[in-house]
Amino acid sequence: MLIKRRLGWEMPESQATPESVFFNRRSFLGAATGLVAGAALPQIAAAEGDPTLDLYPAKQNPAYTLDRPVTEAELAANYNNFYEFGTSKDVVGAAKRLQPRPWTISIDGMVEKPFEIGFDDLIRKVTLEERLYRFRCVEAWSMAVPWTGFTLKSLVELAKPQSGAKYVKFETFMNPRVAPGQSQRWYPWPYTEGLTMAEATNDLALMVTGIYGKPIPNQHGAPLRLITPWKYGFKSVKSISKISFVAERPKTFWEGLQASEYGFWANVNPEVAHPRWSQASEQLLGSRDRRPTLLFNGYAEQVAGLYKGLEGEKLYM
Ligand code: MTE
Repeated sequence: MLIKRRLGWEMPESQATPESVFFNRRSFLGAATGLVAGAALPQIAAAEGDPTLDLYPAKQNPAYTLDRPVTEAELAANYNNFYEFGTSKDVVGAAKRLQPRPWTISIDGMVEKPFEIGFDDLIRKVTLEERLYRFRCVEAWSMAVPWTGFTLKSLVELAKPQSGAKYVKFETFMNPRVAPGQSQRWYPWPYTEGLTMAEATNDLALMVTGIYGKPIPNQHGAPLRLITPWKYGFKSVKSISKISFVAERPKTFWEGLQASEYGFWANVNPEVAHPRWSQASEQLLGSRDRRPTLLFNGYAEQVAGLYKGLEGEKLYM
């Protein structure tokens, strides 16, 4: 499908981002560790009254460190991609319509027994931890964020997939009355993403429930989203309501829209340009620091092995 209109996140970041956002020197938090939990400003986390508040801040996992400062919470919370609520970066207001409670997640497809589970029950069956991850958007900006969550691997174990399951498919909720973007029928809603089983059970794949030491606010994908830090950010599907174990590779939202530019694998690689711009470097959100992009966003040691034998695939778009 050809995209007739120009999408917000499909232009070079120099055009898409106001200078004040990129070059806000106040945004530095200083050192990458230790300044994280609870750093969010009160207005950005919809934490009050949240029934999971007692679980935050979760213990930080020291295995995940950064080579750059943590992005200021307020910046990360006000510069989002969430097409269900609009194509601009400013979706905080529109995303207030999202009601993350009650929230049910269906687990189905090739599993021992399909089931539904309430988010507040699920979160108490798993172990939460905080991880500092780099996050690289395909638009060539990046941030560094303390996510709270649990491994996708632990969710796969709860789901008990059958041996024939080869992929995990994730779907965002579907409700155009809540999310006006979903009334725009040229998009292949609901937002869908997928991983191979090997990717899904890699330690890095995180099911995220919180950010900056608090439950995750709506605009970041409440109450449950995926984070795969070695892939471009569009793989990190928000507000997940359905997880299916399937034999066939799922067709993702962006493949449905523009397969020539956004593929299934979407692994970060500075040497493979987007058809319309380079991926060689990235602009750190909130700073003048432009850095060379790292293969697999710097996580090659943990994930490069997943792609042995798949060299014929378009692994990096
Ligand atoms: N998930 C849904 N459901 N809808 C979206 O529009 N945008 C993706 C991803 N997940 C998106 C989504 C893109 S393009 C990016 S870069 C990240 O979310 C942005 O995450 P953030 O807003 O929390 O920084």
